Amino acid sequence: MNELLILEIQKELEKFNHPTPLAISKEIVDFSKGNKGKIKEILKRLSNEEPWEYIRGYTYFKGNKIFVNEDVLIPRVETEEIVDIAKNYIKKGFQIFDVGTGSGCIAIALSKIFENDIFAIDINKKTLQVTKKNIRLNNSKNVQIINANLLNFDFNTNIPTVIIANLPYLPTKNIKKLQDSVKKYEPISALDGGEKGYEIYVNLLKQIKNQNINLKFCIFEIEPSTSKYFKENNFEIRKDNFNRERFAIIRPIHLK
Ligand SMILES: C[S@@+](CC[C@H](N)C(=O)[O-])C[C@H]1O[C@@H](n2cnc3c(N)ncnc32)[C@H](O)[C@@H]1O
Repeated sequence: MNELLILEIQKELEKFNHPTPLAISKEIVDFSKGNKGKIKEILKRLSNEEPWEYIRGYTYFKGNKIFVNEDVLIPRVETEEIVDIAKNYIKKGFQIFDVGTGSGCIAIALSKIFENDIFAIDINKKTLQVTKKNIRLNNSKNVQIINANLLNFDFNTNIPTVIIANLPYLPTKNIKKLQDSVKKYEPISALDGGEKGYEIYVNLLKQIKNQNINLKFCIFEIEPSTSKYFKENNFEIRKDNFNRERFAIIRPIHLK
């Protein structure tokens, strides 16, 4: 019975060229508990390009359930790789800053691996309401929320520090080229990185230098088309699983 319903939904999704009809038709049946009225409403919202994650209200990141709404960016699969890179370098006693935490996905994933103090920082108060829900949901007791513009808050600069950041990194001119599902529903304030795209990272690096932080390393998620700036500064560039230059690793020696 359900198989037929799944097939029916899949066909409806294909009619308006939904990008992942096969993957989500079963999830839609489970979520709506087979209620045809609800399925109809979901299909209507999907046909308007609303992301499935916002309709359902959650997604998964590194296996952790993460609530999402239009106040937070939907965590992307490539961002999971930041956690894999970071976990090779983090040591006991380091404090970890997740700058631009959004849903809190990175901080929460790291809290499942490390007992270190983790600070989930975001400039947007509404975003942090979702972060708070996710921290509770995942019982991430070592994650503390900070509402700040980058590192503009009081902390102990002597403690060895790791900075992970997936800040807005798209050049402003690229925003209009985004697909409707992103442009219409996801927070532009989580995407727009200024004229060149990497301005917020430049500000963060200035703060790190000026505050004389005991930095161990930084990992930034970047827009591949802006990698030239990071290479010119001799930062290490790593590719993501799609073979795009996606991460910059910065060590104290680079900031001398
Ligand atoms: C690309 S989203 C990333 C969210 C999450 N870390 C992830 O990987 O899915 C960027 C986040 O940075 C936040 N942000 C933008 N400018 C900021 C700033 N100056 N200081 C702190 N957070 C900022 C936005 O509110 C948004 O939540």
